[in-house]
Amino acid sequence: MDTQKFGAHLQGKLVVVTGASKGIGRGLARIIASEGATVALAARDVEALQEVKETIVGEGGKAYTFALDLRRVDSIRSCFARIEAELGCIDVLVNNAGMGNPIPAEDITEEDWDWMMDLNLKGTFFCCQEAGRRMLKQGKGRIVNISSQASVVAIPHEAVYCASKGGLNMLTKTLAVEWSGRGVTVNAVGPTFVYTPGTAKRLDDPVFLGSVLAKIPRGRVATIEDVASAVLYLASDGADMVTGTLLLVDGGWTAL
Ligand SMILES: NC(=O)c1ccc[n+]([C@@H]2O[C@H](COP(=O)([O-])OP(=O)(O)OC[C@H]3O[C@@H](n4cnc5c(N)ncnc54)[C@H](OP(=O)(O)O)[C@@H]3O)[C@@H](O)[C@H]2O)c1
Repeated sequence: MDTQKFGAHLQGKLVVVTGASKGIGRGLARIIASEGATVALAARDVEALQEVKETIVGEGGKAYTFALDLRRVDSIRSCFARIEAELGCIDVLVNNAGMGNPIPAEDITEEDWDWMMDLNLKGTFFCCQEAGRRMLKQGKGRIVNISSQASVVAIPHEAVYCASKGGLNMLTKTLAVEWSGRGVTVNAVGPTFVYTPGTAKRLDDPVFLGSVLAKIPRGRVATIEDVASAVLYLASDGADMVTGTLLLVDGGWTAL
């Protein structure tokens, strides 16, 4: 039995976290760094990334910042090239960057559609491709995509978001089938609502919060720590036989 598979999962590993400047990504980066990994923090807001880096370093961790605009494939390519040149082999990619923008379906414009699909689906695919090409050469790697419960249940006014996350689930499965035989597992985590800058306005509305809690048997929204626990598992050596799956962190919403 290889007891090394249990505990200190990310010691000495290089983990890339996209959208690490705020919200879930910021928290994931701190927790991943606390597990002993070096974290490459990527997002557009480099000042915010610098603050996250300083927080991690202050907590005894290792982190580096990289500018990344997920809506530009050239930015994705140069970001991963820089990470490799400066930090070496990427062991884990956490595709966290992504956003929602609630709009009634009848009012969604072509621009709204393109903006969200480019960010949540196209950009995430090309991050998978950049990391995947490098991981396939190494013969090992872990990719964890932050999807959503909204990938499997409809959320009113989130037509494009739900479609983008549903697409991300299929991307996860397809890449898992293509790459797992060569050592690269690909999985997704599907959280229910988490309190972040992206959801604060809606969750601060007691009527909205009440409608959300009525659908969560566990009786609360998720925390960043809940999401991180799932990510840490899927990023670990112990999850080697788990690929192409969606791990829902939804307090039972989708079981209703
Ligand atoms: N919060 C929830 O309730 C919830 C529930 C289920 C799933 N999720 C998923 O969890 C992930 C994080 O959500 P969150 O609530 O933490 O979001 P958030 O607080 O709005 O943060 C979004 C992150 O994405 C980054 N980002 C946005 N556009 C980008 C771009 N063009 N290029 C690179 N990075 C970009 C932002 O960084 P910059 O602005 O610095 O670029 C930021 O770090 C998303 O994929 C979301 O769909 C969230």
